[in-house]
Amino acid sequence: MCGIFAVAGTADAAPLLMEGLTRLEYRGYDSAGLAVQQGSEIVVRKEAGKVSSLQGLLASDPVSGVTGIAHTRWATHGAPATVNSHPHVADGIAIVHNGIVENHAALRAELAARGARFVSQTDTEVIPWLVRMAMDKGAHPFKALNQAVARLEGSYAIAMMARETPGEIYATRNGSPLVAGLGDGCTCLSSDLNAMAGLADRAVALEDGDSARISANEIDIRDRAGRPVNRPLLEVPRASHAFDTGGHSHFMAKEIYEQPAVIDQINRLYRDRSLLDQLFSLDAARIRRINFVACGSSFHAASVARHWIQSMSGIECTVHVASEYRYEALPRIYPGEVAILVSQSGETADTLAALERLRRLGMPVIAIVNESGSTMARLADITLPLAAGPEIGVASTKAFMAQLVVMAHLSLHLALRQASPTITGRLRDHLLRLPALIDAALHNEPAVIEAASGLAGVSSALFLGRGPFQALAAEGALKLKETSYIHAEAFPAGELKHGPLALVDDAMPVFALAGSDDLRPKLASNLREVTARGGQVHVIGDRESMLSMADVASGMMTVPRAPEFIRPMVAAVPLQLLAYHAACVRGLDVDRPRNLAKSVTVE
Ligand code: F6R
Repeated sequence: MCGIFAVAGTADAAPLLMEGLTRLEYRGYDSAGLAVQQGSEIVVRKEAGKVSSLQGLLASDPVSGVTGIAHTRWATHGAPATVNSHPHVADGIAIVHNGIVENHAALRAELAARGARFVSQTDTEVIPWLVRMAMDKGAHPFKALNQAVARLEGSYAIAMMARETPGEIYATRNGSPLVAGLGDGCTCLSSDLNAMAGLADRAVALEDGDSARISANEIDIRDRAGRPVNRPLLEVPRASHAFDTGGHSHFMAKEIYEQPAVIDQINRLYRDRSLLDQLFSLDAARIRRINFVACGSSFHAASVARHWIQSMSGIECTVHVASEYRYEALPRIYPGEVAILVSQSGETADTLAALERLRRLGMPVIAIVNESGSTMARLADITLPLAAGPEIGVASTKAFMAQLVVMAHLSLHLALRQASPTITGRLRDHLLRLPALIDAALHNEPAVIEAASGLAGVSSALFLGRGPFQALAAEGALKLKETSYIHAEAFPAGELKHGPLALVDDAMPVFALAGSDDLRPKLASNLREVTARGGQVHVIGDRESMLSMADVASGMMTVPRAPEFIRPMVAAVPLQLLAYHAACVRGLDVDRPRNLAKSVTVE
């Protein structure tokens, strides 16, 4: 949420900053801005709207200098307007900030009384004034930044420049990611390791309380007490192809089509048992209860895994929304109880807060994370990688699929203590067949395009499923609402008659996931209740389900027949394509839906 990029080097900073911002834009796109040290001055350019608007401004009003900081914003305090965009400047101190300053109102009043002149409505603007006033008392800018953040309540990642110290950038973090990278003759800072590809070859992630002073060829990191520290080196991805759409019209389409390759990669990674054998360090044989904690699509993936684990290994599983779980009164923790946190970014503030709470309570934490350098990956006791590669489209697709596949491998591993290796081996073979089945599901795109074309003028839709397909229905509804702004709700199909049926009329499309063979007759009855009220039912299922539901379906999105274990993954494909094409039909910005950002690093 919000992206920071900064460079100190010998080449012109503005093009490097703009490249960084373009790569970070998925973290927020309400406005963008940069500041560079130009001679003895710090010059700022900022603009409401996307990074391309800032590019336009720079074309007509260029800047030049070799040290700079830049920001792409997702508004929290203050509307998405140019005046509220970062950098914020106070008398030669320029700052970009991710996070929220919770005590900004009290600080603003105090600083205004001491002569600060505020121009924006943001919480951030108090920070440069705190720094400037500390410098007025004689502090060096690096020290002044540390003194300033000691006054802040809330979360932050900050990059700063001071007029008095050209060529230097100062940074610090607390609860919001920040990575420092070292390249050939330049250093950089970013909220996302991937954004440094091509510029840095080594990087380190700052930890909470760390601060850094960077210049063209040096990164000096200090811990909270001001002592020099070395943080573990991270590998910066070499290729930056993740940041182009690879011939597709949008990242979301590219990422949907990457799924067979992602699954293949995960199957290869988890064929070697060593990753899952890490669970034995928790004494896997004694795992008695699993608490999944996640948000959004990751929560839906965990909700599918709950069905697999409970049915295959009999381990009790609960699934919690992280924003609630972090505050919930927790019952007694039992021996053998573990938490599994599921996250694409590994930086989601609510999931991280839950992680910290669980660690304080002494519950072992397993993280299933895509971003290997993320805070969650570093703090968990055991990390299981998703290996989906960078996901740029704001709506999660290939990471959701990767979560399902990794958790399918995990479910099989846990099942080994109860089921025979022959059975789990057969189920593992199903996972090996999955890339081909996903490929076949992608070939049915024309039927999905037809269904999506009917959504051009629709204002609401319902998604129904039973068993694990309830969670898929919830994922389908989430995906449709976030990309197309169509109000969409999901229900367990059997719940319809307990209230939601009142919503059904001939203007309401109803998407039904016919996943489980056993529950198919029950689902068909639920759907007849819909058609009896004039509702238009679109069935998502294989040919066999279609045959048995031909009398209720006014539309069909057929998927290839797959073994029941892996059907949730196959069913995800038409749901993703539906959301994608609905957004296209409605002329919306598919990869950057309004009001959203990729990595939700604020509460
Ligand atoms: C929806 C989506 C979000 C994320 C959620 C959690 O398409 O992407 O709902 O799933 O914000 O994010 P992570 O997985 O990064 O913790």
